[in-house]
Amino acid sequence: MKGILLAGGSGTRLHPMTLVASKQLLPIYDKPMIYYPLSTLMLAGIRDLLVISTPEDLPQFRRLLADGSRFGLNVAYAEQPRPEGIAQAFLIGRDWIAGDPCALALGDNLIHGDHLSALLQDAAGRQRGATVFAYQVRDPERYGVVSFDADGWAAEIVEKPAAPRSNWAVTGLYFYDSRVSDLAREIRPSARGELEITDLNRLYLDEGTLHVERLSRGCAWLDAGTPDSLLQSATFVQTVQSRTGMLVGCPEEVAFRMGYIDAAQLAAHARGLGKTELGRVLLELAEGEHA
Ligand code: DAU
Repeated sequence: MKGILLAGGSGTRLHPMTLVASKQLLPIYDKPMIYYPLSTLMLAGIRDLLVISTPEDLPQFRRLLADGSRFGLNVAYAEQPRPEGIAQAFLIGRDWIAGDPCALALGDNLIHGDHLSALLQDAAGRQRGATVFAYQVRDPERYGVVSFDADGWAAEIVEKPAAPRSNWAVTGLYFYDSRVSDLAREIRPSARGELEITDLNRLYLDEGTLHVERLSRGCAWLDAGTPDSLLQSATFVQTVQSRTGMLVGCPEEVAFRMGYIDAAQLAAHARGLGKTELGRVLLELAEGEHA
């Protein structure tokens, strides 16, 4: 399975911070925002990645991630000239996807929690249909919302409903089968002029192949699109890391644990991080103290 990291848009809710900097490169505590969804896709076992961003911001992502070999990945890049919708990623990426199954992670979403790797790897392993993840929130009207029938099956999926039928928001992490680029071609722009990811998901729902995984309380999902959620995300990462000594959203660590890089490579990256706490923790991991 391949994976797309979508990191475009204009980040207007974070102005003036995003007037000259890409939202998805702003720090969440000790790492650039994009490291978190990148780590999520890596935990799913995905090694071929396409980063999509604006023509202005794409060079910065290239500087940060290069060809991906530092993390044992193959990273390619593509421009989205205008933010015409999340589902447009599958049209922009069509040739690169080349008929393979493909996941998509929004560059401002952070998911962390219990048994997540197993859930992600199950989703990546599903041959037919799509998998999305739902999370209970207090303000579902800000998101895509999925509601369920009496038997617990997904019944309806609506983008930013004024009167949500449930409080289950659809997170910015999606897994699709090999038909995704073709199905994305069927979608038409919504009233706000975007190719909506919710419309793509509805195509799968209507044919009975949308798998909705409900994330439990043991998981945290945050999107860092506003000043408040940016701060909450940073506080979350800082709290978990300082309390447990374990890292959240660190692609070097995931690459090592997934066997994409070896201990010597990890140690070299850790030294490259200088005297940072992140570098110290990674060096300990490479030397086996946290294995
Ligand atoms: O965070 C999860 C939510 O993400 C889902 O529940 C919604 O169904 C989905 O539509 C999306 O809602 P948002 O209102 O958060 O979408 P937003 O326009 O903020 O875009 C999410 C990210 O994707 C953001 O970091 C910018 C990027 N993006 C967005 C669009 C529309 C692009 O790179 N290109 C685009 O064309």
